[in-house]
Amino acid sequence: MCGIIGYTGPRQAAPILLDALKKLEYRGYDSAGMAVISLDAIQVRKMRGRLQLLANMTRDGRDLPGTVGIGHTRWATHGEPSYYNSHPHLSSSGRFAVVHNGIIENYRPLKDMLIAKGYTFLSATDTEVISNLMEYCDQGDLARTLMAAVKHLQGSYALGVLSADEPDRIAAVRRDSPLIVGRGEGENFIVSDIPAILSLTRDVYLMKDGEVALLDPEKITFFDPYGEQFDKESFHVDWDVSAAEKGGYEHFMMKEMMEQPTALRETIRPRIKDGRFVLDGLQLDPDWVKSLSMVHIVACGSAYHAGRLGKNLLEGRLGIPVDVDIASEFRYRQPILKPEHLVVIISQSGETADSIAALREAKGKGVKTLAIVNVVGSTIAREADYTLYTWAGPEIAVATTKGYTTQVAALALLTCCLAQERGQMSGEELQQMEALLMKLPDAAEEVLSDHKEVQRLASLFFNHKDIFFIGRGIDYSLSLEGSLKLKEISYIHSEAQPAGELKHGTISLIQPGTLVIALATGKRLRDKTISNIQEVRARGAVVLALCLEHDEEIESVADHVLRVPFLCEELEPILAILPLQLFAYYVAALNGNDVDKPRNLAKSVTVE
Ligand code: M6R
Repeated sequence: MCGIIGYTGPRQAAPILLDALKKLEYRGYDSAGMAVISLDAIQVRKMRGRLQLLANMTRDGRDLPGTVGIGHTRWATHGEPSYYNSHPHLSSSGRFAVVHNGIIENYRPLKDMLIAKGYTFLSATDTEVISNLMEYCDQGDLARTLMAAVKHLQGSYALGVLSADEPDRIAAVRRDSPLIVGRGEGENFIVSDIPAILSLTRDVYLMKDGEVALLDPEKITFFDPYGEQFDKESFHVDWDVSAAEKGGYEHFMMKEMMEQPTALRETIRPRIKDGRFVLDGLQLDPDWVKSLSMVHIVACGSAYHAGRLGKNLLEGRLGIPVDVDIASEFRYRQPILKPEHLVVIISQSGETADSIAALREAKGKGVKTLAIVNVVGSTIAREADYTLYTWAGPEIAVATTKGYTTQVAALALLTCCLAQERGQMSGEELQQMEALLMKLPDAAEEVLSDHKEVQRLASLFFNHKDIFFIGRGIDYSLSLEGSLKLKEISYIHSEAQPAGELKHGTISLIQPGTLVIALATGKRLRDKTISNIQEVRARGAVVLALCLEHDEEIESVADHVLRVPFLCEELEPILAILPLQLFAYYVAALNGNDVDKPRNLAKSVTVE
């Protein structure tokens, strides 16, 4: 999704903007631009395509003088990627410039109104109404003008705004789209995502919906949604900058896959103290925990797949129904929610628009909400009643890896914590689970230590047109994630099917040579999956089976075998997904794809 950066200070703005935009590239974009104030006029440089083109055009920003500016990477929603649709957008007179992330839902009537009043439009975007609204609402004061302009807007926005009449300043506001303010020494910033300014400052303000920030080089003034000035508390970021850089790996995705043992350790270890599961941020009322009668898990993409594994864990241990839903479905289906239900929202970024809407839908119905989130201070983390962080560190590659595995680990921790409070796991069972969770990071390290075989298999199949995944039970949930990982970065058509469902239609697509990846890590349903493997092989499929170590029988029915060590059925998916992530990575890399920034995708989907 779009990335925003803004700078005001003593240095030349454009090189700083370009550098930060580079760090926001992972969010996904198709055009980029900058606006800088120079000699009391706003200069804009923008273009369709990669950021490098903008850097070449401005000689790495050196050709664009000025010490105050805003920059943007655009992920097209309204209007194709083009020069005119790129941000920043100027108002008709050129006195205001705006960068925007989000969608203005009422832009058509606003545009009609502004055209009737003589304002001109050059783009097909929803954003251009904002620059013209700034002019229409001009109060002779940048912050007040922005407050007046946003009163007209419906939808989501993070905005950075310049005025040629106040050449030292940037004004910013957000609603349902991420925006952070950074405080430096004699210079200040706005940005979509903290890692992009970590080399510039570690003191940030997390903007809340409706708050307005006015940045001068020496000071930042905050206004609440009613226009009252207030003092805002800053937040010191203590992550390691190198955590957001590649650290010698060719791609962020490989680095992040290799970080999984550490991410799992960081997520699990602090939550187990003296034989008890203690989840920070979760002060649940014991009586309410006992009365809990249903859990709704809501998420998108891989987080939804993690949620499916959570259902298995929670239903198995708590014996209550668990519903798992895709956030964009949940928010519109009017779910039946009751006070003794819990809604669990899972999101790596904490900024996924549909997941935020689902969270608000649940809160609006008075149901308790718990978020499993990775990004500290993100919207979902702040708005949920309870937040359980996955301590995976910054995840940059669009394809989530450590985000997903730590989500499953967090769901296991949540299960044990609730079962402990409800008296549904004996001391012995809790101890067993504790021991297994503690072993998990080392077991993950073992699986990740040798990927030669995965790499060899990727080299056999990287040019296939279709790849099918099959599995039963938790292996089916795992198939969904394995298939998504593969298709999103390799661009190979792939689908996941419950193995028993194949005969009801999809088996007609199996031809001699079609690759079927069969997951058989769950002991209970493995024999049934073996029968399904035989059915596809009888139609000429080539079968790559993923099974537990020592499962010799699989050798006789599959063409190729990948093995993972056995830990326990409930936690096995965390180990079993690792070879599938690696397989997707190598297939994508062999196809010469942009592994970290696959086409058409954004790291965090901040629009509906
Ligand atoms: O940030 P979130 O966890 O809310 O993101 C949800 C999905 O957009 C995300 O998992 C997506 O499916 C990934 N690209 C998959 O690798």
